[in-house]
Amino acid sequence: MSTPHIRAEKGQIADRVIMPGDPKRAERIATQHLSDAVLVTDVRGILGFTGHHNGRPVTVMASGMGMPSLTIYATELAREYGVRQIVRVGTAGGLTERVRLGDVVIASGAHTDSAMTRGRVPGVSLSHIPDFALAANAVQHANARVPDGNTVHVGAVLTTDHFYLERPELMRALAAHGALATEMEAAGLYAVGMAESIRTLAIVTISDHLLTGEEMSSEDREARFQTALSIALAV
Ligand code: HPA
Repeated sequence: MSTPHIRAEKGQIADRVIMPGDPKRAERIATQHLSDAVLVTDVRGILGFTGHHNGRPVTVMASGMGMPSLTIYATELAREYGVRQIVRVGTAGGLTERVRLGDVVIASGAHTDSAMTRGRVPGVSLSHIPDFALAANAVQHANARVPDGNTVHVGAVLTTDHFYLERPELMRALAAHGALATEMEAAGLYAVGMAESIRTLAIVTISDHLLTGEEMSSEDREARFQTALSIALAV
């Protein structure tokens, strides 16, 4: 069978999915962390692999960038392939001095300036929230997995459609309301979770910082990314 964006047989996708943005990262995760990983879909270069982790079937599939892309894949996985849990693993920009490069944020909520989820319940500002039990489980697994010198935070992120638009005042106002980081997918994922009644969670690594301009090298990104991934695999 196939959907407009996924070409895989129904049983080829596990009911739990780990979802990085980048297809190449999906491939690296599958190769390094799943046993007997098999490529199950590659439509538009969005790679998905199914294998086992600790004896359990798991699919690792990319979301592409931004809410529209993630929303398409997450919705088709839930509706057509019976997926019950999607954990996004990604990177984010720090927007407060409370977070540092390499820290991990378990997103307990996602604000958004995007119109994308506005149409779901007209007239209401939806709260974009993860599955509580999944988030609590991730928090329990988190501290043992964080390298010395880094911290796991639990808090809100901003999911935005813009990567390059500079809005220091907006970021300051969000930080003043407790937001920790900005990224581009979590609110879309949480909206799908609520609409399709599946468990969702986003775990992001701080790869750059909006206040200091610091950025991780690509080797550092890959190394530090392992913390978020190991939490995602644990849940
Ligand atoms: N903005 C949006 N998305 C991101 C960023 C950022 O600064 N860093 C990593 N993903």
